[in-house]
Parts: sequence; C-alpha cells; structure tokens
Amino acid sequence: RAKVAVLISGRGSNMQALAAHAGAAYRIVVVASDKPEAPGLDWAVQAGLPTFALSPKGIGKQAYESALDAALRAAGAEWIALAGYMRLLSDEFVARWRGRIVNIHPSLLPKYKGLDTHARAIAAGDAEAGCSVHLVTEELDGGKVLGQARVPILPGDTPDALAARVLAEEHRLYPAVLADMVRR
Ligand code: GAR
Repeated sequence: RAKVAVLISGRGSNMQALAAHAGAAYRIVVVASDKPEAPGLDWAVQAGLPTFALSPKGIGKQAYESALDAALRAAGAEWIALAGYMRLLSDEFVARWRGRIVNIHPSLLPKYKGLDTHARAIAAGDAEAGCSVHLVTEELDGGKVLGQARVPILPGDTPDALAARVLAEEHRLYPAVLADMVRR
C-alpha cells in the first residue's frame, strides 16, 4: 500500500474523502498543514491520523519547506496529495518529489488556473465546470491532468452553489485517481 502525505490549509473535506477511501491502494501516513489553525487538522487528530502543523510565518519559506520535507520523510511518505493546500511549493521542493505530488483543482484545466475559478467560469458564460486532479510541476496548476469530472453550470448559479456541486465531484474523483496512480 502506497504511503501518502496529505497537505491541507483549511477545511479538509478532500482529505476526509481521501481518508474514507484509503485501503488496498494507499494509506495516509501524515496530514500536514501550513496553517496550525486549519479545521481539517482537528478532524485528522480525531481520526487518529498523525499530523504536522507549521506556519512559514516568522521562519521563512526555506526553513518551513525543509522542516515539512523532513516530517513527510520521517512519516515514510512516498506520495504527496495536496488537498486545499493554498501555498505554492518551491521549485526545489517540487524537484525533490518530482512526479510524486498530485493536486486537486476546482476547474477543468487548462481553464482557470489559480483562484476564483467558479466565479470566472460563470462570468465567462461556460455551460459546464468541474475539477481536475493533476501532477504538480513548477508551473502553477500546469502539470499533466490525471483525471477530470464535469458538472453543468445552471441558470442563476452563484459561485458558492457551483462550488458545492463541483466539490461533491472532487470527493469522488480524487480518491479514485490517487488509487489509480499509486497502483501503477
Ligand atoms: C477544494 O475545492 C479544492 O479543489 C480547492 O480548495 C478547496 C479545498 O477544500 N483547491 C484549490 O483551489 C487549490 N488551488 P477542502 O479543504 O474542503 O478540501
């Protein structure tokens, strides 16, 4: 079973979906957060998962990332799954884990990299939106797409309503794509 580290910054609903589907393909060996106050960390503790919390504030990005790297390796992680992790990883960090970091992004990449994806899809008049699981490279939201799920954009949709529709698909897509990838 592949050993996966999950990185979060907030709520952690994708982390929960990944945890719910852990089993034959993978298991979560640590949940790490750059925000010690992230609600998802409390859930992880309750679920009995090892956690690591450290803010880069005050210590700088380099010190933060080397401590993070050390914690993930100490936990035995072989893969990293970003799940609402809202901080850019440095080129050096990405290089150390090349081909072993995946992310879920709330748009149909290559459309709408970055933030405010749902508002941008609605403003553009798109008929559909969705989410993508992709490999993480040095380019923001730019690595190879491993899987996508689509939802319709409905008349009168708000960004929040669309986000909720997409999020339900994220929770299905991410565990399936992760399991698929680590089996190869
Ligand atoms: C999810 O919708 C995820 O796709 C998005 O943040 C949300 C996190 O929710 N990620 C990004 O925007 C990455 N740039 P969660 O904490 O409940 O999983």
